[in-house]
Amino acid sequence: MRLQTNIIFGDFKEEIRKLGLTGQGLLCCRRGFDPAQLPGLDLYALRISPEPTVESVRGYWEEIADRKFDYVLAVGGGSVIDVAKILAARMENDEEIENFVGIEKIRRRAKKIIAVPTTHGTGSEVTKYSVLKFKETKKSIVSENICPEVAIIDEGLTLGMPRDLTLYTSIDALCHNIEAYLAKACDPLNDTICESGVRLFFEGIEEAMSDLAVGRKRLMLSSVLGGIAITNAQTLLVHALSHVVGAVHDIPHGLANSLFLPSFLKFYEGDEKLSRLEKILGIDLRKNIERLYEKHGVKRLADFVDRAEAVMIAEKAFENKRLMNGGRKPVTLDDLKEMVLSSF
Ligand SMILES: [Fe+2]
Repeated sequence: MRLQTNIIFGDFKEEIRKLGLTGQGLLCCRRGFDPAQLPGLDLYALRISPEPTVESVRGYWEEIADRKFDYVLAVGGGSVIDVAKILAARMENDEEIENFVGIEKIRRRAKKIIAVPTTHGTGSEVTKYSVLKFKETKKSIVSENICPEVAIIDEGLTLGMPRDLTLYTSIDALCHNIEAYLAKACDPLNDTICESGVRLFFEGIEEAMSDLAVGRKRLMLSSVLGGIAITNAQTLLVHALSHVVGAVHDIPHGLANSLFLPSFLKFYEGDEKLSRLEKILGIDLRKNIERLYEKHGVKRLADFVDRAEAVMIAEKAFENKRLMNGGRKPVTLDDLKEMVLSSF
């Protein structure tokens, strides 16, 4: 277990002030964030659109390439933080952005990154991952060199998040905790992280859906734990499938994951470790998720995708060997086709 990020809980303005940042910073943020909230910092603001493509990130880089920055401050959801990581890496590595894709392809440590999440799902503020959208699938940059140096966790930033985004970003965190738990690389310390992450999801989701701070706080923690869990282990089949449908049909990441989580749990039914998780938490995971989906009207794959595409989705996802081979249970292409078909 290794954690590269200094994780700070508190009011984000106060905690950023305490960092004593000097020089010029690149601020990556969402539309609507007012940099005037961070007085005293010399910031160049870049507004990041959701679900970044390789072309859009190249465009961001062209905009800032001639400037010199001392740090990168990301205030936003997973897309904002993911883009900030790539730009910070690009500042220290004279390479085409496409060449960062893959495992440990970034040679020099990225410029100092301070990540402040405004959603509770991706955990990107503590991960070694950045996801880029290509035409047929999303691809991951996996590198210890893009782990943020500091993550500031302030649940106040998530208050007022729309219900749909609340639900689906939270399910992303749930998937991280469950998938990492079932990964071969999950060690005993990571197990306890995942167990807590799943518990916090179920303890907090209803209150988070009602926009109560107590629920937001639990989900924020679940998200950070999920991020730590996938950095020490990895995601599995849910993310492999969601990367394909997310790219081909422009489905947001958390929503795309939610479509495959039930069939993934069915695939792992009877697995010793999954049973242990349920015993520790005292819940039937599949039933609890089913109830949650029904209550909040979670969509089905059929709402976005034609059945005729099922084989293509499975085949494309099956090419992602890192995610296919990482789980406790071996997976065949037929297993994957079955998972897709039962998600309709
Ligand atoms: Fe994710």
